[in-house]
Amino acid sequence: MFSEDFIFKRVKLVSGFSSWESPSNIALIKYWGKFDEQLPKNPSISFTLSNCKTITKIKYRPKKENEEQDFSFLFNGTEMKSFHEKISQFIKRISQYISAVNYHFFDIESHNTFPHSSGIASSASAMSSLALCFMEIEKKIDSKISKAYFLKKASFLARLGSGSASRSIEGPIVYWGDSQAYKNSSSLYGVALKEISPIFNTYRDTILIIDGNEKKVSSSKGHQLMNSNPYAENRFNQANKNMKILQEILKKGDLKGFIEIVELEALSLHAMMMTSSPSFILLHPNTLFVINEVYEYRKNTSVPICFTLDAGANIHLLYPNQYFKKVQLFISERLLKYCHLKQFINDSIGFGSKKIQL
Ligand code: DP6
Repeated sequence: MFSEDFIFKRVKLVSGFSSWESPSNIALIKYWGKFDEQLPKNPSISFTLSNCKTITKIKYRPKKENEEQDFSFLFNGTEMKSFHEKISQFIKRISQYISAVNYHFFDIESHNTFPHSSGIASSASAMSSLALCFMEIEKKIDSKISKAYFLKKASFLARLGSGSASRSIEGPIVYWGDSQAYKNSSSLYGVALKEISPIFNTYRDTILIIDGNEKKVSSSKGHQLMNSNPYAENRFNQANKNMKILQEILKKGDLKGFIEIVELEALSLHAMMMTSSPSFILLHPNTLFVINEVYEYRKNTSVPICFTLDAGANIHLLYPNQYFKKVQLFISERLLKYCHLKQFINDSIGFGSKKIQL
């Protein structure tokens, strides 16, 4: 499908409420580098999460005459200037695909199930829940929209808000970006992976909060720096190759292969940050202590646990559910001392967004 296939021009004035919850996700193959309007330089693939999510509610009505504002926005009941700008940009971007945006006013309210100060990126869950609410409004104007089109376009819109948000609409594993590994892959929207060994449906993600502060360098800036990173082309090739390798691993349930690729991807992402110009480091000394503890623990036990990172200092520990108790013990005995305020969040692989009945 092309971007043009998502243009929707019907004009009908409607009013009502729309509410969706959408989870965060953790990438196994990382998206880092983009071009044009939110198109990724390499394919990526992620586990959809379950507990870390954003709940968004929109009250919509036709705009009054001469009404200039398009929306109001409250996060956890308060106005937040930084979010306001992101949403304003998002609404502008989707206005050619969701015609209701040009004739309506939206009262938007969002909250997260995870603490805002945890350093967990919330743009994936926030932008995907928002995109779903707008799709719901489009569906009210055209009730014939199919479920498949609804989900595909929701992912398309979410991408325009934040690239990784395109992978949060469905679950349990979603890929995004043209890839030779998957014939139906697209850079415009995410696609849920069908062929998965059942072991991955049981995966846990325990997020260790290493640093509760806001990141020093935003993801947007990091993506931009890839345009001049001397290793960028190699990195994009590496991600493409890793997609193919991981495809087999996910099909066969090869846990050893999974650990190798996932940890390599996490460290390659941060290597790109360190080799950008200007260079930057988002890892915290405690991130490295935890990584070493994971290496050690894996060597001494038969637990197939691995770590991954997003654009920050926090560690995501990935492992099958059958090791949950053992890993909790490992965390409390060896890792808690490295966590900011001893905080960690137990999450697990999830099955995507949900409409909230009002
Ligand atoms: C490191 O999706 O936050 O988490 O498109 O600028 O909003 P924007 O970037 P964003 O980048 C996510 C980067 C990452 C890797 C990933 O999730 O694939």
